[in-house]
Amino acid sequence: MTDTTIPSIERLIVALDVPTPARAEDLVARLGDSVAFYKIGYQLAYAGGLSLARQLADAGKKVFLDLKLHDIGNTVARGVESVAGLGATFLTVHAYPQTMAAAVEAREGSTLKILAVTVLTSYDDADLQEAGYRLSVSGLVAQRAVQARSIGVDGLVCSAEEADNLRPIIGDRLSLVTPGIRPAGSAAGDQKRIMTPGRAIAAGADYLVVGRPVVEAADPRAAADAIVAEIEQASQT
Ligand code: C5P
Repeated sequence: MTDTTIPSIERLIVALDVPTPARAEDLVARLGDSVAFYKIGYQLAYAGGLSLARQLADAGKKVFLDLKLHDIGNTVARGVESVAGLGATFLTVHAYPQTMAAAVEAREGSTLKILAVTVLTSYDDADLQEAGYRLSVSGLVAQRAVQARSIGVDGLVCSAEEADNLRPIIGDRLSLVTPGIRPAGSAAGDQKRIMTPGRAIAAGADYLVVGRPVVEAADPRAAADAIVAEIEQASQT
């Protein structure tokens, strides 16, 4: 069951998948008050976008830093402390027990929430086997979801299709954040498992990450408004 206490506008997280902070700032200005939550990933972060995180937070926006940390516990903990200082709301780490535990401990006392990436969606069973794992994708996702819950992680990144299966494992305390969202009629691009905003909310997603359907729209503001309206309707049913 999706968390109905989150305002609809905050459930839409627009992925700032653009090459430069200047392009990101232009997009944020065009979107104005139609978007309240932004995701900064590798592309923008490594092109000077981390200072934009602080700028957005100071302007009252929420920021999701999709940095997918994974290192020895001490290094993860120090990194998490620095990210908390940027004013971000969400940070991703890979769902290894040591990494999750270090991140959760280091975010104590801040408003930062830790999201765990269970298994990357580009991996299938053969990829896992090649990387030395014995479990299937669904087995490893389930095992890591149980570990994330017991370690006290704040949420998971998963496909909307997985949301239905994960909710009983993780309970209601953890947020489910789902990419692969496509409003009806928009191009799938390279996403293989897509869902409309309304169906994703109905499947139990709390936050929807949307990139190209907003970023590449002729009218990004209208695209964002339409998604928030669909989220609003789905969260009331
Ligand atoms: O353009 P699109 O809506 O497909 O963008 C989705 C965003 O979510 C991208 O920033 C992508 O990196 C991210 N993401 C994803 N699948 C995951 C995790 C993150 O598509 N499993």
